Amino acid sequence: MVTAIRRPHWLSRLNAAWAPPAVLDFWLSRLNPLWSWGDARARVVERRPEAEGVTTLVLKPNRHFRGFRAGQHMNIGVEIDGVRYTRSYSASDMPRADGCIRMTVKAVEGGKLGVHLQALAVGSVLQLGQAFGELCVPAGQAPCLMLAAGSGITPMLALVQAQAAAGFPRPVRLAYWARTRAELVQAATLRGLAARHPNFHVHFMLTGETAHAADESAGRIDSHHLATLLPEDGRIHVLACGSHGFVERARALLHSRCLSFQSEAFSPPPRVVDASDEGHVRVTLLQTGRTLDIARNKSLLEALEEQGIKPRHGCRMGICNTCSCGKPSGATRALHDRSVQHEPTQALRLCMHAAQSDLSLEL
Ligand code: FES
Repeated sequence: MVTAIRRPHWLSRLNAAWAPPAVLDFWLSRLNPLWSWGDARARVVERRPEAEGVTTLVLKPNRHFRGFRAGQHMNIGVEIDGVRYTRSYSASDMPRADGCIRMTVKAVEGGKLGVHLQALAVGSVLQLGQAFGELCVPAGQAPCLMLAAGSGITPMLALVQAQAAAGFPRPVRLAYWARTRAELVQAATLRGLAARHPNFHVHFMLTGETAHAADESAGRIDSHHLATLLPEDGRIHVLACGSHGFVERARALLHSRCLSFQSEAFSPPPRVVDASDEGHVRVTLLQTGRTLDIARNKSLLEALEEQGIKPRHGCRMGICNTCSCGKPSGATRALHDRSVQHEPTQALRLCMHAAQSDLSLEL
């Protein structure tokens, strides 16, 4: 449940017919940065360190945020040195009665937004997108195996908390890979849940340190680890979240050995680009009437940004759909497998495709 943050009564009576929302938003945000005619925004109400290089932000959204389910992501937007950055983050806790969202953010080397968010002052206001994502514990009573690596722990924390709130009605096993103990997020909380609930087990997999505790193992994901986590009859649902490489390894090892396999990766698949992708093509932006020459060897999102165009975006890796736009004509090439699409589409993800020929976009 999200607590409403109300605009003054007189502002609620304003009619958008005579004042465009963008203009109203500008003036409303001057009165209170959280006020907006229709956009979700959130105030940072708490910031706490979680682990080495990892911080949790507690965000209080305004009344335009429509809520979320455990396992979902939201786009967060901030302006840094006059440039707007947007990225997707999972909630790291289930929805709580206070209406706040907990987001656990890692400062990735070279990643401006993660570093900026870690240092944000309490009271700062962020742009907030609506929740999206399908990762969930399937219905029924079959056991569930959650595999998380690095930042992939965040949606799993929310899903584990949701199961804990229900009293763990089914067996849940979480295997969590991190380089060192210092990088583990909420290890004590997870151990506490495992101690109190016989239906919940946690295993910490360390890739850069020797295992000591009874619930620790060492090494990267492999068939030996998974053999100890899977029931022999394969009657288990598997959820995996981590880097693209981690998720694909888990899929290769488990996909045919379980009831269902869901996954989410926080890094995009590797790009397949070669010398034949050099050169430029002409892109017509139909809504603004602009025509540009853009590079063929970059994602459309990057190539347009290079030309000073700022399409809406979030995750930059094909998950959130924020960058989707219509492509009435021209050919595009998927960056991960080089497949070429000639057909018109209403929903081309600019971050996952490059221009193959001259084309037009609904931008
Ligand atoms: S930015 Fe998220 S799908 Fe493209």
